[in-house]
Amino acid sequence: MALFDVQDDAGDELLGELLAWGAEANYWHVDVAVEDQVRTAIDEVASRFGGLHVLVNNAGIAGVNRPTHEISEQEWDRVQAVNVKGVFLCTKHAIAHLKRSGGGSIINLSSIYGIVGAADVPPYHASKGAVRLMSKTDALLYAGDGIRVNSVHPGYIWTPMVEHHLRDSGATDLDAARIELGQLHPLGHVGEPDDIAWGVVYLASDESKFVTGTELVIDGGYTAR
Ligand SMILES: NC(=O)c1ccc[n+]([C@@H]2O[C@H](COP(=O)([O-])OP(=O)(O)OC[C@H]3O[C@@H](n4cnc5c(N)ncnc54)[C@H](O)[C@@H]3O)[C@@H](O)[C@H]2O)c1
Repeated sequence: MALFDVQDDAGDELLGELLAWGAEANYWHVDVAVEDQVRTAIDEVASRFGGLHVLVNNAGIAGVNRPTHEISEQEWDRVQAVNVKGVFLCTKHAIAHLKRSGGGSIINLSSIYGIVGAADVPPYHASKGAVRLMSKTDALLYAGDGIRVNSVHPGYIWTPMVEHHLRDSGATDLDAARIELGQLHPLGHVGEPDDIAWGVVYLASDESKFVTGTELVIDGGYTAR
């Protein structure tokens, strides 16, 4: 298992946990928005592990939470660079290796914000909408190679991204903000990382061998209305 991130301390800590469980794993410092770093790291992964079978495009940033007319070009571009170009670059450099393996699975983290609108984080919405359709296009392009491509659409999941988003939005009592956020979901609470991880495990496994170009929505009912 290969981990890519820009937070080296957290990456090393997770790597330590995986190795302690007996997993074969390594961590690479990769900014997914920088093509040279992506290409070099993916090639190293394939050579170290003897091939590539699954790519999870999970890296993402929320970006600024201001209305469209108050966002700078630079702020807009950074969100697209990580959330959209990052998916493009990792996919681009994984394809040859996946083909060599006889196929595989690409799982792209979109969002409920790639399906429905909300009056916040405009660059993020644009980026996640793009990821939704990039997934379908790549599913069609590479189906003949046995490479499946799907998008995952989480509702609000309690992670550092959501904590930062709430703080940025002015929340001072995080517990109260979490409960309030949970009320947006018919199931009445925000999700946990494992709720998404099990969906990713399904899409990575052969249990989903007939699933490509689709959207796995895991959102506590948020988009059902
Ligand atoms: N948490 C949610 O409610 C939620 C909802 C819908 C979709 N998502 C999506 O799920 C994915 C994971 O989100 P999360 O909530 O765990 O966020 P998070 O901020 O907790 O984790 C994102 C990870 O991406 C890494 N990252 C950021 N920029 C990077 C870059 N340029 N190169 C490499 N790594 C980079 C961060 O260091 C971090 O480890 C994201 O794509 C996010 O948009 C999250």
